[in-house]
Amino acid sequence: MTEYARLIVDGKEYNLPVIEGTVGDKAIDIRSLRQESGFITFDPGFGNTGSCKSAITFMDGEKGILRYRGIPIEELAEHSSFVETAFLLIAGRLPSRAELTTISVNLNDLSLLHENMKQFYQNFPSRTHPMGILSAMVNAMRSFHPELVDSKEDLQRTFLRLISKVRTMAAMAYKVSIGQNPVYPNPNYSYCANFLHMMFDTPVVPYRFDKDVSDALNVFWVLHADHEQNCSTTAVRVVGSGKVNIYAAMSSGIAALWGPLHGGANQAVIYMLEEIQSKGLKISDVIKRAKDKKNPFKLMGFGHRVYKAYDPRAKIMKTICDKILKKTKIKDSLLSIAMELEEEALGDPFFQEKNLYPNVDFYSGIVLRAIGIPTNMFTVMFAIGRLPGWIAHWQEDFFDPEMKISRPRQVYTGETELKYLPIDQR
Ligand code: CMC
Repeated sequence: MTEYARLIVDGKEYNLPVIEGTVGDKAIDIRSLRQESGFITFDPGFGNTGSCKSAITFMDGEKGILRYRGIPIEELAEHSSFVETAFLLIAGRLPSRAELTTISVNLNDLSLLHENMKQFYQNFPSRTHPMGILSAMVNAMRSFHPELVDSKEDLQRTFLRLISKVRTMAAMAYKVSIGQNPVYPNPNYSYCANFLHMMFDTPVVPYRFDKDVSDALNVFWVLHADHEQNCSTTAVRVVGSGKVNIYAAMSSGIAALWGPLHGGANQAVIYMLEEIQSKGLKISDVIKRAKDKKNPFKLMGFGHRVYKAYDPRAKIMKTICDKILKKTKIKDSLLSIAMELEEEALGDPFFQEKNLYPNVDFYSGIVLRAIGIPTNMFTVMFAIGRLPGWIAHWQEDFFDPEMKISRPRQVYTGETELKYLPIDQR
């Protein structure tokens, strides 16, 4: 039996149907509200707005739960490869061994960039941020691969092409930025090891495979693979809802991820920790600054729109961080600053009352530093990881008969009506 929410406004009563998800989350369906009542809802930042039904990822922010297609993130981080997790998100189930082998072969076949695309890199100014380059390159893929959603096979190939080539593009952007020739992918390596090979192999110092480093990168990407309706995924869905080509939709996801409040936070955390170190700032003063309402500074890597408990990804990331630092025998002084900062913040009533905990970005930068990734590539690493999630959401939206073009309303607060003044009367 349908449950209804009763809304009384201007003395009139409206019965709005309640929708329930599989794990008990409930939403009031307001689709008919404006037509029936003339009212719209107001929710800047969409903190209380369900924009779609989705079967991809479940989060419970109060309990710190994250599951992809029903499987807890802790299990995937322990047992799954990034490629398998990507399949899970996009296809909705775990692949068979034969499917996984076919995917690996295809990812390898699709890993080269068109040689003309390589030339694009030379023409970006030298200080261009790699996120800007990646977003532009992914958008440009449409010109090189115009075959799109004509068949199920085309579609699968397009998804794999994106997942494979984004990795090549990212490594190439780094190589060009340090004045080295790009390194071609090596068919003998797994997805993660191949990326490390393209990043770090040189004619004079060949890349030496290290399983622990490759495993750490694998977990990093599994943890980032999806996070339901976050800012960049919403951008992908909104842009995709206009039925633009998939490359343009993915490119918009990369652009949205770039910001320091979203994926750019991993880079911002390291800059914050470096500033604390280089200026010898006291942790208590940094916390004081973060609490000061008049100061726009926020503790980077802390807080989350949905998690009001410890981010489950941050817990895993912290373990990986300890493991990889031990393995590489790196003594990263930023780690002790991070730990001191975390301890002080978690003990502070301001952070306790507002439920502000470390998020995935708090420790991820230290993991990336330990495996040799330069700071300005951190958000690119996040983007490679999030790509399967964006694809899964784009697909869900694209084939959902209930979905419409995204087009929110507004409450207009400008001038009512003015007369046009000719230029000599202004
Ligand atoms: N440091 C200090 N105060 C904070 C912080 C922080 N990191 N985060 C939130 N607050 C305060 C905020 O000022 C507000 O205070 P008040 O109620 O007095 O106005 C209160 O906590 C609620 O915060 P909010 O800004 O309304 O929360 P939001 O849901 O709009 O923003 C956030 C979430 C992640 C943008 C925010 O917590 C933040 O800016 N954090 C730092 C950036 C960061 O680490 N981003 C990565 C997010 S995780 C990766 C991802 O999925 O993108």
